[in-house]
Amino acid sequence: MTRVLAVANQKGGVAKTTTVASLGAALVAAGRRVLVVDLDPQGSLTFSLGHNPDRLEVSVNEVLVSNTPVAEALLDTEEGMSLLPATIDLAGAEALLLMRPGREFALRRALEPVSDRFDVVLLDCPPSLGVLTLNGLTAADSVLVPLQCETLAHRGVGQLLRTVREVQQVTNPELALIGALPTLYDARTTHSRDVVADISDRYGLPVVAPPIPRTVRFAEASASGATVLAGRRHKGALAYRDLAANLLDYWDGKELRTFRP
Ligand SMILES: Nc1ncnc2c1ncn2[C@@H]1O[C@H](COP(=O)(O)OP(=O)(O)OP(=O)(O)O)[C@@H](O)[C@H]1O
Ligand SMILES: [Mg+2]
Repeated sequence: MTRVLAVANQKGGVAKTTTVASLGAALVAAGRRVLVVDLDPQGSLTFSLGHNPDRLEVSVNEVLVSNTPVAEALLDTEEGMSLLPATIDLAGAEALLLMRPGREFALRRALEPVSDRFDVVLLDCPPSLGVLTLNGLTAADSVLVPLQCETLAHRGVGQLLRTVREVQQVTNPELALIGALPTLYDARTTHSRDVVADISDRYGLPVVAPPIPRTVRFAEASASGATVLAGRRHKGALAYRDLAANLLDYWDGKELRTFRP
């Protein structure tokens, strides 16, 4: 059974893209067949996996708006996952989709013919709650919310949770909210811990283990286009491997491991 996980938060810079790339690489290392989907017109995921969005003829945009078969747009990556890339053209898809009936279902329908080829599909949502994120949440069977552990991190979480509930009511009753994933986490500060405790109290949201520590290795990796888990033993890579193991157990029916600061 293919698992489709959306990584979503309308707040920018909370490590959605880093989480998709690193978790994808960790799942490949665990022997799974992985597809990652770039739903952001900025194309950061595409770029960080070694492809230049400016040089692509076919991307998720054509798949969503012109019914191009998804198989024609898939790219290989050095990490061993398949990539459905994005280019800046995707910015225009938003407006085109808005005029169509069933616009939230475009991605779900597009992925159906290839989903058998993958064990896990990870969706990198853009930093907005527009039609692209709605497509991501409608195509997914679960959603993970990366959260930067800083003051005011909770702003916007309520709105995101309302959107998830609306998607559950309207387009995707099967969508499960797995929980919040603390990112850019600094265990040395009480501040990071307080933010995590506050989020879990305020919203009753499970906090998924482990928190992802802040480490300079991620910035280095995305700048060089090098493999995201390069330098396999650094603490960020280890955290994403542990997250992959937690999610695989959860999908096997075990209880989700949560984090209590
Ligand atoms: N654990 C980490 N430690 C240090 N830097 C990190 C970590 N995770 C992500 N970053 C850096 O933080 C920045 C934002 O990360 P990323 O692009 O993954 O966030 P995003 O939520 O996808 O952003 P956007 O909302 O713009 O799509 C990037 O420069 C990335 O390299
Ligand atoms: Mg991103």
